[in-house]
Amino acid sequence: MTKTQDLQNIKQHILDNNVCPELASQATQLVFGSGNPDANIVFIGEAPGKNEDLVGEPFVGKAGHLLDDMLQSVHIDRNQIYITNIVKYRPPKNRDPLPQEKSAFWPYLQKQLAIIKPKLVITLGRHSMAMFVPQGKISELHGTTQEIIIQDTDQPFKCTLLTLYHPSAAIYRGSVKKALMQDFSTIPNLLAKLNKE
Ligand code: URA
Repeated sequence: MTKTQDLQNIKQHILDNNVCPELASQATQLVFGSGNPDANIVFIGEAPGKNEDLVGEPFVGKAGHLLDDMLQSVHIDRNQIYITNIVKYRPPKNRDPLPQEKSAFWPYLQKQLAIIKPKLVITLGRHSMAMFVPQGKISELHGTTQEIIIQDTDQPFKCTLLTLYHPSAAIYRGSVKKALMQDFSTIPNLLAKLNKE
């Protein structure tokens, strides 16, 4: 089976298992993830917003445009990477995802990562970071890396985690945008180093 088929099966499991039925009933559709299943980099956001809910793809609204600009600044094309969220249905009125919603989708996110096997996992924002570094503070950890182990497989695999601020936070706060752009600029060297390992 190809990675695309494996990912499609995970998406189907979420639907078949009726994960977070309350969220699902209020959302237009499941926003599973998009991009290259062979990507070296997987970006993980928080949850779909209004535009993502309508289009069915992550990061297609305002925050997505900023993400696109930053990707362009480091010469990375969207079709080289994979993007998904912790929670895969839009929370009503864009409220923060609840702990039980994040936990409900966590096994599926791990399965997505286990299929793609990226070298670099990049979390966007504190919700996404907290799934990997529960006690971490984004103001202290943004721009830093650490090794993580993805467990959901017969063969757990190691990859590198880079924790970044969420682009939405950067839209209205100049200091966050500056930090995010600075942190983003480290990606090419980091990836080059990981590709050599
Ligand atoms: N914010 C997120 O965290 N994810 C999206 O897909 C869009 C905005």
